[in-house]
Parts: sequence; C-alpha cells; structure tokens
Amino acid sequence: MSLSPKGTGTITSPAGARHARISGVGGYRPERVITNEEVCTWIDSSDQWIRERSGIVTRRWAREDESVVDMAEAAAGPALQMAGISPEQIGAVICATVTHPFSTPAAAPLLATRLGANGVPAFDISAACAGYCYAISLASDMVRGGSAEHVLVVGVEKLSSVTDTSDRGTAFIFGDGAGATVVSPSDEPGIGPTVWGSDGEKWSTIQQRLGWDEILRRWEAEDAGQTVDWSDAQAHDARSASTLAMAGQSVFRWAVWGMAPVAQQAIDKAGITAADLDAFIPHQANMRIVDAMVKQLGLPEDIPVARDIAETGNTSAASVPLATERMLREGEAPRGGLALQIGFGAGLVYAAQVVRLP
Ligand SMILES: CC(C)(COP(=O)(O)OP(=O)(O)OC[C@H]1O[C@@H](n2cnc3c(N)ncnc32)[C@H](O)[C@@H]1OP(=O)(O)O)[C@@H](O)C(=O)NCCC(=O)NCCS
Repeated sequence: MSLSPKGTGTITSPAGARHARISGVGGYRPERVITNEEVCTWIDSSDQWIRERSGIVTRRWAREDESVVDMAEAAAGPALQMAGISPEQIGAVICATVTHPFSTPAAAPLLATRLGANGVPAFDISAACAGYCYAISLASDMVRGGSAEHVLVVGVEKLSSVTDTSDRGTAFIFGDGAGATVVSPSDEPGIGPTVWGSDGEKWSTIQQRLGWDEILRRWEAEDAGQTVDWSDAQAHDARSASTLAMAGQSVFRWAVWGMAPVAQQAIDKAGITAADLDAFIPHQANMRIVDAMVKQLGLPEDIPVARDIAETGNTSAASVPLATERMLREGEAPRGGLALQIGFGAGLVYAAQVVRLP
C-alpha cells in the first residue's frame, strides 16, 4: 500500500532581511610574545630564515590556562560594542575553530552563556584557515534567510596546543588568538557572494598526524608495556602524534596558484573591479603567499594589504578577522570601505567574498 500525504497544511517560509552586513569587529591577541629567537631555541633555524621564508617576526601564544572560549569571549566584547548590540540581541553564535579541545560539546554554547546570551542557537564549524570566511557565508545566509537577526561569528585558535615545537616545517608558523564579527541585517548589500570549495584529494597535506582513535589505541598498547612505533606518523609519542604536520611546499604551490583565481571570482561575483577595493585581507598563512596573490591579482598599488602575520603568525580561523581588526584600528583601511577577504587551508578548503567593512 502506498501512502499519500494529507495535503492539508501549508507551512510558513522563513523571511529574513533583504541584505546582510558586518556591523562590528573585535580582536584578542594573547599577551605572550614568542620571538624568532625563542623559536630558534627549539629548532635549528635562524631569525633571518624565518623572516625571509614566512615574513613572521613574532607570534602570540596563549597561556596554558587560557582557553579557546576565553579568547573568543575577549574578542566578542569589542565586536558587540562596535555593532552597538547588547548580548540579548545576539540571535546565534558560530565559532570557527579546529583547536577547541573537546570534540563535543562545542565552544559556541559556552561562549554564548558567558556573553549573557544563554539559549541562542550556537555551534562550531571545522574549516581550518577558511573557517571564518565559511562562517561569514553561513551567517549572511542565516540573516537573509530569517534564521537569526544578529549572528556573532568568531574565528578562534589555540594552535600552540597542536604545534610540534621540534618540527622545523611548522614550529615557527602558528600563533594563537581570536577575531570576532557581528553579521546584521542591512538595507544595502554588505556581504558579496561567497566563492568556496574543497579538495579532499589533498586531505593529507595539512593534518593532525594521527586520528584520536589510533592515538588512543597505540597509547593503551604502550601502557600495557608493548613497544609502539610512531614513526609512520613522523611522531615519537601520543602527544606529538596529535600535532599538525604539513607538506609545506605542496600547500605553498596550491595557495599561490589556486587561490588568486578564487579571489578574482569573488571580485567578479560581487560586481566590482579590483580598483574599487579599499583593502585586501587574505588569510595570513605566509607573507610570500600574500605577496604572490597581490601580484597575480594585479591589485593596484594603492590598495592596502593585510600583513598582520608579521606580528601575529598564522592563526588559522582567527587570521582574517584579526587582520581586519588591526587594519581598522590602525587606520590602514577605511571604515565602510570594500574589502576582499579569502581564507584557505586544511581540508583542503577555501572561501572568499567581498565585504563592506563595519
Ligand atoms: C613552510 C615553508 C615556509 C617552508 O619553506 P620552503 O622554502 O618550502 O622550505 P623547504 O621545506 O623547501 O626547505 C628549504 C630549505 O630550508 C631548510 N629549512 C626547512 N625548515 C627550516 C627552518 N625552520 N629553518 C631553517 N631552515 C629550514 C630545509 O632544510 C631546506 O634546506 P636545503 O635546501 O639545504 O635542503 C613553506 O613551504 C610554506 O610557507 N608553505 C606554506 C605554509 C602555509 O602557508 N601553511 C598554512 C596554510 S593554511
């Protein structure tokens, strides 16, 4: 017997704002500054090599007792203030992070509670260095789709907790921090179409060395007195097996050749030209990648380019909002101007969009 629907009810379709925009931005950088000299006490390297190859001079690392939620909370305060909204007006919270230490529960519900917005929809997304730009796309769709009025988006990472300080290929790159924005309804378009995607064929080019199931299996075996070989994961114990490994040159090539066309598509889909931009805010992965993208995009020389990596390192999901916060605070980019932002990283994943700065 085949069933047929009742066909009596008509459901209401959600109705949202006509447009969405970023209404506030805030950042938090931990106090502790890690210099290249300090990095060189862990690995065989030099200040000059690190500067030349990555553009990084210093990075910030969180205290051991400073959590992803602590940093997110510190960044959210100024973002809410600039947006001019109170905690009761937050309609949803999205945290983009890969370093919240709990697979579950997510960081976002606790963050919402701490901010005085207990009860709102709150969830984390895992899209590494593209996480913030992924979350901006989601938040924009939520505001326009009627799922929430104001969405708090936080890119936050404690990458020091997954850095192998003995690995010459990654020890100097990563930093900790949080960048937050509020996405709100708008009369004018404030967030352009997102150009995004993934390449799972390159899944292993940036990855946690081993999955937690395998780490636990080997750890228990060690505990039971067995000799365990970690070398297949370029690790020597459970701790180092949980850190990030990166095929630096493959990632570098992918970013340099693959991401400029994505950024160009975001400009085209926004219906503007590069000359209309007031700022270029790419993921702060490596200064050489930033320079190569500027060149490939043929950006006019007068357009300010985010170079926050020099003092902040690569903070993955936090890098684009932190760089945005710095450019506005230091008067490098005008409030209300148009910015091209792009995030890319582990997955591999990427996302780019043109936004109007708050
Ligand atoms: C990591 C990265 C800076 C390394 O630079 P690279 O030029 O590719 O370095 P290589 O691994 O090819 O090594 C080049 C040389 O430097 C040496 N080297 C590697 N790491 C070093 C270090 N930390 N200090 C000093 N020398 C180092 C190597 O031994 C090698 O020496 P050799 O030529 O005598 O053999 C670069 O690959 C990169 O930035 N990749 C992208 C990283 C990134 O953006 N990740 C985040 C994406 S979200």
